[in-house]
Amino acid sequence: MAIERTLILVKPDGVKRGLVGEVVARIERKGFTLEAMELRTLEREKAEEHYAEHADRPFFGELVDFITSAPLVAMCVSGEGAIAGMRTLMGATNPLEATPGSIRGDFATQIGENIVHGSDGTESAQRELGIFFPGRF
Ligand code: RTP
Ligand code: MG
Repeated sequence: MAIERTLILVKPDGVKRGLVGEVVARIERKGFTLEAMELRTLEREKAEEHYAEHADRPFFGELVDFITSAPLVAMCVSGEGAIAGMRTLMGATNPLEATPGSIRGDFATQIGENIVHGSDGTESAQRELGIFFPGRF
């Protein structure tokens, strides 16, 4: 398994609930490396670019409204198998289906407020890191 980089977000719900430290602690405890971390409120244009794959879905407007509604924490996380490894740490998209012990399984109930985002493949990781940390990775 290769060393990979992935974009991780603590979404606005996670920041509001004071779960940034909890998420970072789990990433560090697992053995992944934090390469960059920034608290920011996302511009609408960047949010639409980030979620472009969902542009035709009925929840797209709500998704963009939510992710731009308050500050989020964006991170570049690296490590052996970091892309799939972070998806496992995060748990299933629907928190009610996420395994207890995962971030979503332990801290969320609603699909629209599921605390974290993680890139779902090498191409999306590269694309998303370019949106949040242009020219850096
Ligand atoms: P993410 O991109 O945030 O890491 O989540 P994911 O890969 O597990 O899920 P994805 O299919 O990419 O969906 C992106 C986000 O859209 C919201 N969503 N809402 N109402 C719905 O049916 C619905 N489906 C997805 C979720 O907040 C999901 O994280
Ligand atoms: Mg996704």
